[in-house]
Amino acid sequence: MKARTRIMQTPDLGLPPTRTVNPELHRGSTVYFDSYADLRSAGLGEYGGVTYGTDRLPQQRILEKAIGELEGAALTRVFPSGISAISETLLAFVQGGDHLLVCDNVYGPTLRFCREVLGKFGVQTDTVPGNAGADIAGYLRPNTRLIFLESPGSNTFEIQDIPAITGIARERGILTVLDNTWATPLFLDPFALGVDISIHSVTKYLSGHSDVLMGSVSTTAEHAQTLDKAYACREIYGSPDDCMLTLRGLKTLHVRMREHFASALKVAQCLQDHPLVGDVLYPPLPSHPEHHLWKRDFSGASGLFGITLRHEYAPEALGAFLDSLGLFGMGFSWGGYKSLITAGVPARNLGGRHHGQTIIRLHIGLEDPEDLMVDLRHGLSLLEKQTPLE
Ligand SMILES: Cc1ncc(COP(=O)(O)O)c(C=O)c1O
Repeated sequence: MKARTRIMQTPDLGLPPTRTVNPELHRGSTVYFDSYADLRSAGLGEYGGVTYGTDRLPQQRILEKAIGELEGAALTRVFPSGISAISETLLAFVQGGDHLLVCDNVYGPTLRFCREVLGKFGVQTDTVPGNAGADIAGYLRPNTRLIFLESPGSNTFEIQDIPAITGIARERGILTVLDNTWATPLFLDPFALGVDISIHSVTKYLSGHSDVLMGSVSTTAEHAQTLDKAYACREIYGSPDDCMLTLRGLKTLHVRMREHFASALKVAQCLQDHPLVGDVLYPPLPSHPEHHLWKRDFSGASGLFGITLRHEYAPEALGAFLDSLGLFGMGFSWGGYKSLITAGVPARNLGGRHHGQTIIRLHIGLEDPEDLMVDLRHGLSLLEKQTPLE
């Protein structure tokens, strides 16, 4: 055998199988078959194993099982980002002529996809208030096919009365989908509340280290086949490396979420008493308007919440506060170990609470909350020297 042929072969080490603690990482497009019989059965869709890279390599299948078990789902699939998980779910379950209801407090691109992409195919979208409950009945049309919820909304933090909505939806054969990224499967069980499909931006807490973009969709048995077929048709898949990093992140989800919750609660309580702060938008606080729903349906809270200020400030003045922070990174997304901060006026279709007001959004990471409060107090003391707009 010539050298260039030899180099194309994979040397056989002749060792017994190596069993590391974590599963072996497979990267690949082509997957070998042992025989022509196996290759043929793959072509006929009858092969029991993985047939190709887009057929979900083992790392991905392990991750899907792990998330599915956390969710108590019949079927879970992962996607290359949270927004792709959302858009592919909508594509799988709606068709031209359908009507959708979407909570007004959803992640902006979710609503944009409904309007700008699904709209092109004759799907109509209306919004309902972020704190909707049984009053959702008033928004239904004969062709309403799906209700999309995000509770709490990740910018304005209103909570929906999920069981009231799913009860009405089930009576009328309407599908309910929940973006459960904020609570994670640890703090809210969507299927127990009657939701049909649960979505996560895995990018956030499930992976947990700001080094992965990924999404997941989990369904009850009733809708598993529709999701599975649509997924296979589109040949979407998660990168093996991202699946590996997410599996690593999942192992510490319980520990991290406990810390995020405890620290965020401390920081939220301190901010509530600060003279410059108006409202603290964190469902575990009794002052949150849907605190009773949080208490009823959730068993914990994540590290993400918002605050409003007693007065509005010009962007330069607000910058004096945000730019001074040493422990809060300024940037989008959340759910990692690092504390983050953003500020802006959330876009809304319906009025709603804090309409037109600046919301400063904090993600409380895994640093010591006392250090975070020192940083925030210092920043707010600089803001105090600025002149408010009103
Ligand atoms: C609630 C929520 N859902 C979905 C997404 C989209 O996730 P990704 O960034 O993974 O596309 C985000 C992103 O910030 C989000 O906040």
